[in-house]
Formats: sequence, structure tokens, C-alpha cells
Amino acid sequence: MDEVTLESLEAALAATPHNTTLLLTVVRERLKRGEFEKAARLIPAELPMDGLLPGDRRVLGEALAKGGAPERALQVASGGSPGERLARAMALLALDRITEGREAYEGATVESPLLADPELAKALGARERVTNDVGAGRPRYQVSARDEAIAEAELKPLFQPEAQKVTFADVGGLEPLKEQIRRRIILPFQKPSLFERFKRKSGGGILLFGPPGVGKTMLARATAGECQAKFFNVAISDVLDMYIGESEQKLHALFEKARAAKPAVLFFDEVEALGGKRQFARDGHTAKLVSQFLSEMDGFASQNTGVLILGATNTPWAVDAAFRRPGRFDRTFFVPPPDRPARAAILALKLAGRPVAPGIELDWVAKSTSGFSGADLEHLIDTAADLAIEATIQAGKEVPIGTEQLKQAAAEVKPTTLEWLTTARNHARYANESGQYDEVLEFLAKHGKA
Ligand SMILES: Nc1ncnc2c1ncn2[C@@H]1O[C@H](COP(=O)(O)OP(=O)(O)OP(=O)(O)O)[C@@H](O)[C@H]1O
Ligand SMILES: [Mg+2]
Repeated sequence: MDEVTLESLEAALAATPHNTTLLLTVVRERLKRGEFEKAARLIPAELPMDGLLPGDRRVLGEALAKGGAPERALQVASGGSPGERLARAMALLALDRITEGREAYEGATVESPLLADPELAKALGARERVTNDVGAGRPRYQVSARDEAIAEAELKPLFQPEAQKVTFADVGGLEPLKEQIRRRIILPFQKPSLFERFKRKSGGGILLFGPPGVGKTMLARATAGECQAKFFNVAISDVLDMYIGESEQKLHALFEKARAAKPAVLFFDEVEALGGKRQFARDGHTAKLVSQFLSEMDGFASQNTGVLILGATNTPWAVDAAFRRPGRFDRTFFVPPPDRPARAAILALKLAGRPVAPGIELDWVAKSTSGFSGADLEHLIDTAADLAIEATIQAGKEVPIGTEQLKQAAAEVKPTTLEWLTTARNHARYANESGQYDEVLEFLAKHGKA
């Protein structure tokens, strides 16, 4: 942002001093430039505090701490979030209350090692924390006001807001899978105290894999819907950034957002784009991002309580094995193509609300559409609807969707899961070291394709 734009934003802020979005934007800009006093002066004395997120409080706290108003910083960043504690540490340093500052700093970095700030640590005589077990080579990403500003601007488009709530009732078939998810994911979310008593954490990671169009994304959405949790949908390709370091920042900010909004489901679609085998990564860039992802997932297991991490992929064999270690995507669910009853259920779901002829033979269609995914079936129904529309126009009166149209559509639409199953069979046969494809083999055996 250039100086002229910034100044005009500041003029706008002067007219509407309680516009916190605007306030945060300009404060961040000033912080970014190291103009701490200017940043601090922008913050009105009687700023309404409710509605400010921990991250916002941290930014304002940092500005006030560094900009010569440390007492006010302590009031603004008074919460328990690591970011706010870090801002307090800065303020306490400015006030020469070193012992308290050190405590605040250490508290912040124990909970969120990525906040480590060597200079601040040194000034406070605090211990430099090295993230445990992640070892050498792991990026120790430091969050600065600048990073947050970038993240803020870039994350908004990454979070696609949920248009309408999806629940299990919208997903046809997949009953065993829904039952597993209910027992192992939704219940821990709904009864945290019970699980606490048995020292089982809610949250954690689950990887859904299966052919394209079988409802992996839909199931993830429905899981969030059933948990009454916020759903953050992230496509990895949106996180990838050509600038070195930026992808890691975005990823970190995504996790922070979800943690601040718990209970939340953070859904990573196309995980293979991220977890692509590290040895295949062309440069260190992707490898760094993978490392960041892994430390987000396990470095702070406690912080991830209440945040469920779901991943989905069509190509599980391209996902780095490190992703499947305990505490990460330690549960893997195969989402199979729908079986006959499931196909009938999906057909009925997709027909709901459309004009349908009485006595339509859904069962016949279900029987003859082996290998069709849910998306294929949806396509089939759409095709049948087109045929009915044509017939309606020709007849000059409404012709509902009937068996005739379904049969004709079934002949046009081709199943898309077979190719995937062939590839999966090879991986399952020759690279099933830890048994991760057992369910696939079981499915293939049951359907006479092994
Ligand atoms: N079991 C199902 N019940 C109802 N609709 C389904 C089901 N499976 C798939 N569909 C339909 O197919 C569409 C595609 O499903 P979805 O995007 O969830 O598939 P996916 O497994 O994530 O595919 P991809 O691997 O290509 O991302 C959905 O919009 C939905 O309408
Ligand atoms: Mg999908």
C-alpha cells in the first residue's frame, strides 16, 4: 500500500473511529513499516472491545506496546490467547516489568512455539524455545504483524462460506462409514467431558479417500454439519503460493483461524497436492510446506482439541506416509462407490422435488448402474430431466421423469469409478505394506474385481 492510500484510509478512519476493520488495516500497515508511534496513535482511547478477535487484540496490543502506550496494551491484549500474551510480554518489557514479561513470553511460546521471537526472548532473558521433536530443518515460522496482515488479506477468499448446511441425510448410502464417523468423530465433539474422562481427545485427523465423485467432499461437509461445527474448506492449490515462505504463512494462519473458531472442521481437499511424496518435490519449497503442515498437525496437539482436520484425496498412494502417523491423519476411511441400495438411495435423493412418474423403476436403474459414482448418478438424473423437459415441450404438457427417460439416460452416462478401481487394485496388491488398502481389497473381492 502506498503512503497516499494509507493516508486517505487514515482520514476515513478519523471520520469513523470505531470502524475496527479499517482500524486494523491501517494499524497493520503502520506496524509493517515499523512506525509504531503512528500505529499506536490511531487506536482510539475508548475503543469498543467486544467483537475483537484474539488476533486483532494482539495486533492492537503490539502497536500500543511498541508505540509508547504499554499500559493500554495490557488492557487491550488481556486475554489468554498466545498472541495476546506475546503482546503483553512486549508491553511488560516496555514497562520494565521483566519477570512478568518473561512469564508472559514463555507462556505464549509454550503454547504456540511458532510465536518465538529471539530478540524479545533475549531482552526478557527468557528461554529460547526450540520446538520439540520436530528437529532440524523444520521451519520455525515466526508470526509478525506483517504476516498476519498478509494472511488476513489472502485468507478471506480461501474460506468459502458455507451456503447451506449439509447433513448425513443428504448423503445417500455409505451407512457403515457414517456410523464410524458418528462414533469416532461426532460423539467426541458432542460429549467432550466423557472423552476427557477417558483421556481421549476429540479432534485429530481423518483422511477420506476413494474414486472421484463418490461424495468425499460432501461427506466432509456433512460431518461438519452433524457436529454443529464451523466448516473451513481449503483447496490446497489455493494455499500454494509462488513466493517462498508465503504458503507456510497462509497455512499457519488457516490453522489459527480454525483454532480460534472451534469447534471447527478444517477440510483440506486434494491433500495429495500438499502431501505429494516429499522426495518428488522439485525443490525444497514444497518440502517446507509439508513440514509446516505436519508441525501444525502435531506440534500443538493440545491446541487442536476441538478442531477436526479432515482430508480428502483421490490418490492416497501419492500422499506422504508421514501424513498417516499417529496424531496426524491417523484414521483413514475408504469411501467406496455406492452399492446397489446406496445407488437407489442417491437416485431418490436426486429426484426429490422434481416431477416424477408414479411407479418409476428406480430399482432397475440402481441394478444396472454398477460402477457409477454419486456424481455419475446425479448426471444421470440431470440427463433424464433434460429428456423429460424436451418431451414436455413437444407434448405441450408436463411429462414427468419416468423409467423410460432413466433408461435412456443410463445408456448415455458412463461410470467413472472403474478406472480408479483398477489403479487402486494395483497399489493395494503391490504396495499395501501397512494394510491401508485392506478396505479397497475387501471391496474389490466382494464385487468380484480382485
Ligand atoms: N453418496 C452421495 N449422496 C448424494 N450425492 C452424492 C453422493 N456422492 C456423490 N454425490 C453427488 O456428487 C457430487 C460430487 O460429490 P463430491 O464432490 O462429494 O465427490 P468427491 O468424492 O469429493 O469427488 P472428487 O474426488 O472429484 O473431489 C456431489 O455434489 C453430490 O451431489
Ligand atoms: Mg472432492
